Amino acid sequence: MKIDFPEQFWWGAATSGPQSEGRFNKKHANVFDHWFEIEPDAFYDQVGPDVASNFYNSYKEDIALMKEIGLNSFRTSIQWTRLIDDFEEATVNEDAVRFYNAVIDECLLQGIRPVINLFHFDMPIALQKKYGGWESKHVVELYVKFASKCFQLFGDRVTEWFTFNEPLVIVDGAYLYQFHYPKLVDGRKAVQVAYNIALASAKAVKAYRKINTHVDGKIGIILNLTPSYPASDDPADLSAARFADLWMNEMFLDAAVKGQFPKELTDTFQKDGVLWDASEAELYQIAENTIDLLGVNFYHPNRVQRPDVSADSLAVDWLPTKYFDGFAMPGRRMNVDKGWEIYPQALYDIALNIRDNYGNIPWFVSENGMGVSKEERYLNEDGIIEDDYRIQFIQEHLYWLAKGMAEGSNCFGFHLWTPIDCWSWMNAYRNRYGFISTNIHTQVKTIKKSGRWFRKVVEENQLEV
Ligand code: BG6
Repeated sequence: MKIDFPEQFWWGAATSGPQSEGRFNKKHANVFDHWFEIEPDAFYDQVGPDVASNFYNSYKEDIALMKEIGLNSFRTSIQWTRLIDDFEEATVNEDAVRFYNAVIDECLLQGIRPVINLFHFDMPIALQKKYGGWESKHVVELYVKFASKCFQLFGDRVTEWFTFNEPLVIVDGAYLYQFHYPKLVDGRKAVQVAYNIALASAKAVKAYRKINTHVDGKIGIILNLTPSYPASDDPADLSAARFADLWMNEMFLDAAVKGQFPKELTDTFQKDGVLWDASEAELYQIAENTIDLLGVNFYHPNRVQRPDVSADSLAVDWLPTKYFDGFAMPGRRMNVDKGWEIYPQALYDIALNIRDNYGNIPWFVSENGMGVSKEERYLNEDGIIEDDYRIQFIQEHLYWLAKGMAEGSNCFGFHLWTPIDCWSWMNAYRNRYGFISTNIHTQVKTIKKSGRWFRKVVEENQLEV
C-alpha cells in the first residue's frame, strides 16, 4: 500500500544545542555541564556534554549529510548559556551569534527549514543556584529577555519558533524523580515550576508577537504527549488514567492551546495544598497568548492503573503518582533496549484528540524514534548500520499518523529524533536514535540504512507499507 503525504510536508529530524554542539563558550555552565563536573559517574560511561556530536565545529558537514538524506527541515535549540553573556541584561556573546547565524544560513542555503526551540533542559547553573531556576518568576523574566534577543537576532530568517521542549520532563526530572539537576523531591516546587514554565511560554509568545517582523512567523511549544490507557474498566483504573492525562498531557497542552489549566487539575492541587502561586494578571497573560502551532514528541504510550496507596508511597511528599501507577500490559511489544513499549496507534489517538479537543490546531510530530544501544552490532561489511528495526518503527508510526491526517487532523510534519546520533543527558551515548551514526572517538559520521530509506520517502512524498 502507498500513502501520499501533503505537499510541503515537513520531513525532518530534531536535536538540541546542548546535545549536539559541544561546550563552545565556557563562560557559563548549564545544569548538565555542572552536574557532569561534580558527578561524572552519574553519566553513562562517564561521557559528558563537552564535545557532544561536535556540531559547533562540523555544522556544515552535518547539514550536508542531512541534505543527503533528503531532510527539508531541522529542529535544534539555541543555548541560553552560550548566547547570553549577562543574564540580567541579555547581552550576547558575539561568537555565539556568529555560530547561530551560520547554522541558520547554512540550512537555508541547503534548502532545509531551520526550526528553533528556545529551551531544551539547559538552565544556566548560575540562575539555578541564585534563584532556584524555574522556581523563580524573576528567571521567567530573564528567559523572556533571552527569547526576545533570539527573535531580534534570528527572526528575519527563522519562521517557526518553539518556547520549550518537554516542560514536563523538567518538572518530573528536576523536582520529583531525580533524573535532572537539582534532583529534588518536592511536590510543591514541582507544581510551581510547571506553572512558571507555562507562564514563561505565554510571555515569550507575547514578546514574539510584539517583535516578529516576518510575515510567516509562528510560535508554539513542544510537548511530550503520552496518551494514558487504563489497565481495565474498573473505575479506580479509569480515574487513575484520567489524572495521569491531566498531569502528563493536559496541564501544559491546555495552558498553551486553550489559555487555561484544567479545573479538575487545579482543584486537586488546591485540595492537596500544593496549588501554585498565580496572580490574576499572569493568568490573563496565559489566556491571551496561546500558541500558533504545536510540536508533539511521542515515543511510547502510558499504561496506567490505580495507585499503590501504601503508607510508604505517600510518605515522601506530594507526588502525582499518588493518583496513578504505571502498568506493564501483558503481551505488549517492547523496544527491549530502551524499555519502552512500542504502540504506534497512539499517534492516531493523539491526532484525533488534537482534532477534536484542541481546535484542530496545526501540529507536527516533533520527535519520534527508536533508541537502540550498541548499534554497532548491526554494522554490515560496508560499515553501514542496518537498522531495519528503525525503518519499521518509523513506517508504523507514519502509517497511524497518516490515518489520523486522512480523518482530518491538521498535522504538517514528522521529525525523527534525531538526525545524527547525539549525546543524551545521563544516558549520554547509550541509546542511538539517528539516521546517521557518530563514532564518538573519531567523530566520523555515517548514514545508516534508515537514512537512505528515508530519502526515498521524502523524494516520493509517499510511504510504502
Ligand atoms: C526526548 C528528549 O524526550 O528524548 C531528548 O527531548 C532526548 O532530549 C530523547 O535525548 C532521548 O532520550 P534518551 O534518554 O532515550 O536517550
